[in-house]
Amino acid sequence: MEFATQREALVAQLRKRQEVSEPVAAALRAVPRHLFVPGVAPEDAYRDEPIVTKRDGEGLPISSSSQPAIMATMLDQLGVRPGHRVLEIGTGTGYNAALLAHLAGPEGRVVSLDIDDDLIARARQHLAAAGESRVEVVCADGAGGYPASAPYDRLIATVGVWDLAPAWLEQLAPDGRLVAPLDLRGVQVSVAMERAGDHWVSRSVAPCGFMRMRGPSAGPEVLTVLRRDPELMLGLPEPRDIGDVAAALDAVPTEITIKEEEPTPAPAIAMNLSLWLALHEPRWCVLAADLGGRGVTMTAGLAEGGSIAVLAAEGSLVARGHGAGGARLAAELAAHVKAWDQAGRPEAGDLRVEAHQGPVDAKGVVIGKRHTTLVLSFR
Ligand SMILES: C[S@@+](CC[C@H](N)C(=O)[O-])C[C@H]1O[C@@H](n2cnc3c(N)ncnc32)[C@H](O)[C@@H]1O
Repeated sequence: MEFATQREALVAQLRKRQEVSEPVAAALRAVPRHLFVPGVAPEDAYRDEPIVTKRDGEGLPISSSSQPAIMATMLDQLGVRPGHRVLEIGTGTGYNAALLAHLAGPEGRVVSLDIDDDLIARARQHLAAAGESRVEVVCADGAGGYPASAPYDRLIATVGVWDLAPAWLEQLAPDGRLVAPLDLRGVQVSVAMERAGDHWVSRSVAPCGFMRMRGPSAGPEVLTVLRRDPELMLGLPEPRDIGDVAAALDAVPTEITIKEEEPTPAPAIAMNLSLWLALHEPRWCVLAADLGGRGVTMTAGLAEGGSIAVLAAEGSLVARGHGAGGARLAAELAAHVKAWDQAGRPEAGDLRVEAHQGPVDAKGVVIGKRHTTLVLSFR
């Protein structure tokens, strides 16, 4: 198949599951993704999948070309118009920067930053191979933004951020918009934020899952490998002593049935319930299991004192408690699921996020970050 046909097929595939605006679809049709992932077979470059391009010493992914579906979602959240000045944090392969340049047009300007100089050098080569000369790529910690070309009409982070850096808010034009995968106590959502007087407010929120920002502005979240082959990992929003949950997981669980017949697919429940737990329960955790080349499956739960309870949805929805306190944790997890159910099963898209630069007296869930205070509520 011709590459243009493969790109068209990718757009058609995305449009079966989500809305993709015509400008974003045109950018996806125009930019040759296969030139940004040179080691990858061209047909694989046009699948709706992330492509890992760099790993750290322990084998954890630290750079990738993100999944096209989430790139399209975030580009639509960003709303780049011809002539816009755009700053991207997280150049990676340079592909998203090229999409941004297409959207900003000949009168626009795109600057993209990455913390790794080898990635910047490669992105330059990819952009040149694709004939894209309108993007300036710079090796820098994205937390500082890029004052030399400010102000920006649009700023996008394509890497998970723990907080909104003051430099980004300063470098955005008065009616500018920022889109970033923002950490909410260990759960990420892609927020599109605009100024509203003295603070910032979300205009749209979408679920997402990005690798996290590295460097001094990295967040406190911890990922622990509990087992290898197959890999089982536990994620916590910040360091916390939870005891030996790996040993607890070997014990026979106590199971509580929450719902006999559960039609919602397990990944959607895990994602939406993670967000609910993150906002309502300090003991929440996420458990991720490697399916051996078939992706990663995730579930949400509670961990405390060497015990853990996690949710499973296999036809029926159940809470499984492991360890001495497992039965109690499973009952508490089941109670959270019922509260989430009674609240109408809110999801990321129902969330409203306010970001204040300084402390705030507000109703809702308040999360204090280094530079901002977030106030969250479900609509
Ligand atoms: C998911 S990749 C970005 C994908 C990219 N937009 C593309 O189209 O290929 C995330 C990138 O963020 C970069 N990154 C991590 N921490 C950073 C930081 N503090 N400042 C700038 N870039 C950072 C990583 O090196 C990685 O390349």
